[in-house]
Amino acid sequence: MAAEKWVVSVTAQTPTNIAVIKYWGKRDEELILPINDSISVTLDPGHLCTTTSVAVSPAFTHDRIWLNGKEVSLSGGRFQNVLREIRSRATDYEDEKRGIKITKKDWEKLRVHIVSYNNFPTAAGLASSAAGLACLVFSLAKLMNVKEDHSQLSAIARQGSGSACRSLYGGFVKWIMGKEDNGSDSIAVQLADEKHWDDLVIIIAVVSSKQKETSSTSGMRDTVETSELIKHRAKEVVPKRIKEMEAAIAKRDFPSFARLACADSNQFHAVCLDTLPPIFYMNDTSHRIISGVEKWNRHEGTPQVAYTFDAGPNAVLISKDRKTAALLLQRLLFQFPPQSDADLNSYVIGDKTILKDAGIEDLKDIEALAPPPENASTQRCRGDVSYFICTKPGRGPAVLADESQSLINPETGLPK
Ligand code: DP6
Repeated sequence: MAAEKWVVSVTAQTPTNIAVIKYWGKRDEELILPINDSISVTLDPGHLCTTTSVAVSPAFTHDRIWLNGKEVSLSGGRFQNVLREIRSRATDYEDEKRGIKITKKDWEKLRVHIVSYNNFPTAAGLASSAAGLACLVFSLAKLMNVKEDHSQLSAIARQGSGSACRSLYGGFVKWIMGKEDNGSDSIAVQLADEKHWDDLVIIIAVVSSKQKETSSTSGMRDTVETSELIKHRAKEVVPKRIKEMEAAIAKRDFPSFARLACADSNQFHAVCLDTLPPIFYMNDTSHRIISGVEKWNRHEGTPQVAYTFDAGPNAVLISKDRKTAALLLQRLLFQFPPQSDADLNSYVIGDKTILKDAGIEDLKDIEALAPPPENASTQRCRGDVSYFICTKPGRGPAVLADESQSLINPETGLPK
């Protein structure tokens, strides 16, 4: 390692994911080992992702991290576990052009700077920890020349946040709970890539909420300690659903996919209610969205849309194709119109072509929408949804090679 004050950095982008068979409950809190397998869909990083730049330099005096523009403490056990695991797997690095050589031993001593941004509001409660921790692991692994494959990296990301392990892949991903006490077999695997089922369109309703939510970590701890229902779920229900969901994904069988995803979301919220004290993640708006989708699906005689809710009130709605997504968006905008001073451009974000397909070009078009035929008495609930994101299943993590996309100043090693 030369004595100059060089900075070496890597920038990566990692998607978030939404579980369609939920992870809820740990058998080991420290290693983050779950009580059941789970399955997720990776969301298009073009609309929802974390970008992280990591850098090393002999000039850095300690490990530092900036999240969404603010420096935060790196002392948390989970960050430290991830850093330790990656450092222990670092291998020799050489940049001949710049005359920089870092040996496996040097990595132990070199301090890192980490700068991370979400391209969506963290406050929206959209699994930012999954994308964030996965991105941290992926970018550090690239920086430190870690040779392990994505499954091995997923086992490290898992120790940062359970759901993060599924963000190491695009498309459809299964987190295998594993049996080993050391967690070596608790890894994520890809079931199918994002191209396998590219008809699906996902609309997320970011639901307005003033309520401070129980964190997933403490919520699931309380559930495991106090709920009887969770035992039945983990032992009897989920293993069967995992097999059925894998088959539904393999066959692109939307009716089975939707039935399983909705049932599993509902059961997850039922075990939350079965927890002492009970946990309420969904609110009235979430319930209204479920009722609307259920009525529509029943009216059509076969599922058009699947819904799923994580540890918060936001609805993730998966429609079988673009045409259905446009009809869904019309229904959602009829029921949840924006405030009169809103800007349509920021009320529906992501893939705006769905808005076009729905025939909506300005706020007047929303006011002119008719109630859905299957539910003519639908009331308008203005202001109950903050905004909508139109997206689709997406790819896994990627390195951003273009230096201009780095979040770290290459001279100072500090955030740009
Ligand atoms: C409801 O992964 O956030 O989103 O492992 O304690 O960090 P920790 O929890 P976290 O829990 C996610 C729970 C969920 C369901 C899921 O993503 O499978």
